[in-house]
Amino acid sequence: MKVIIINGPNLNLLGKREPEIYGSLSFDDYYKSLQEKHPHIHLEYFQSNHEGELLDKIHEIGFSFDGIILNAGAYTHTSIALGDAIAAINTPVLEVHISNVHNRESFRHHSYLSAPSKGVIIGLGLKGYDLAIQFFKDSNHTK
Ligand code: DQA
Repeated sequence: MKVIIINGPNLNLLGKREPEIYGSLSFDDYYKSLQEKHPHIHLEYFQSNHEGELLDKIHEIGFSFDGIILNAGAYTHTSIALGDAIAAINTPVLEVHISNVHNRESFRHHSYLSAPSKGVIIGLGLKGYDLAIQFFKDSNHTK
């Protein structure tokens, strides 16, 4: 089973960035714990601050992987192109947000990604990525 975590802009700064919202653990450290917890799946991680690179990665793996866990950061709220990419591929996508975007600024309340995604995990901290992996592991989900 092949699952990829794709993180968008500013998520490379996890651990340093607004720790009161996003926590003080770096994603690299958290990712190591995910690899240890899920040794039997093929897990990959990709991060980019560039919308086009996120699109290219979704196109590259979107017809061969079993699951995509996507935290597109602020592009969630702006990118019709990322929503279209999710709709275009075969691989199911779980949209993840570390913070509860619904108790933050109103511009974070709308997502272009939620409708074409299989589901959404919001506000459970980094644990959301782990729960998303578990979802893909539990059964063979199709789009
Ligand atoms: C975020 C929420 C977004 O609104 C924000 O732009 C981020 C992180 C989250 O994981 O809580 O960069 O996606």
